[in-house]
Amino acid sequence: MIRLCETAYGKLNLTLDVRGKRPDGYHELEMVMISVSLADELTLELGTGEPWAVLCDCPGIPAGEDNLCWKAARIYCEAAGVDPDGLSIHVEKRIPAQAGMAGGSSDAAAVLRALNRHYGRFSAEQLRELGLRVGSDVPYCLFGGVALARGRGELLSRLPPLPGELYFVLAKPEFSVSTPALFRELDAAGVSVRPDTPAMLDAIRRGDRNAIGACLENAFEPLVARQYPIVERLRGVMLAHEAVGARLTGTGSVVFGLFCSKFKALSTALELRDLCPEVYLAEAVSAP
Ligand code: C5P
Repeated sequence: MIRLCETAYGKLNLTLDVRGKRPDGYHELEMVMISVSLADELTLELGTGEPWAVLCDCPGIPAGEDNLCWKAARIYCEAAGVDPDGLSIHVEKRIPAQAGMAGGSSDAAAVLRALNRHYGRFSAEQLRELGLRVGSDVPYCLFGGVALARGRGELLSRLPPLPGELYFVLAKPEFSVSTPALFRELDAAGVSVRPDTPAMLDAIRRGDRNAIGACLENAFEPLVARQYPIVERLRGVMLAHEAVGARLTGTGSVVFGLFCSKFKALSTALELRDLCPEVYLAEAVSAP
């Protein structure tokens, strides 16, 4: 039996713009994404001689073939023409689910990475093409680090690393949002805020932490915040504690704040625990 271990990092959207609806039903997106240290740990066992199994001890995460890890493994094995003779995938969950942090997609990307490390069939670009068949966020999760994502999310360009001494406080309120439903709502309501993506790219290139904070923007936030006032409360607490910026990530429900001081990040996280059941501290990580 062969055992493979892989880390699956969470992602945050520094910006998220919805540029329009495409003929294939998906939306044209433009997003600045980063990987953060809050991560799941995956263990794959190949050659178990048993039926495939995906195991996750976290409630609410589908086990078995409904899990994106299973889909990723099936797509990989079919495309590579390999049969591991039994496969078990164990996911130790740290990234909150239904949070806008691409937890499921990142796990799927980790499965693709691990299998390709073992079988070595595909280039990084081919692996991202397989990833897109699993889900729109999977190519970015394979790419990792600071990146600009366009198209469905699969057209990726590398951006410079974020400046040092940046700390993220992540607050996960209890609600969760359906991504397809939110896209439909946005289609009906129209986009009311758009990030200034060139200004964010410029801020990153200059390593200007205050400008990065000021440029955080998410086209979904007004819709989500209108329905869930906790979003504005969480942002308010973060900004009152000297966050240089605070936003919803993806379609939520995690709200993150960006801090230049570790001490401020820590004290804010402690205060947010009164408002929110799950609060985390994280830092940006570079591409895998
Ligand atoms: O690709 P994935 O299955 O992760 O997408 C989930 C849902 O998010 C899609 O069914 C679609 O409603 C929406 N989506 C979209 N445009 C994108 C990415 C996702 O409309 N670029």
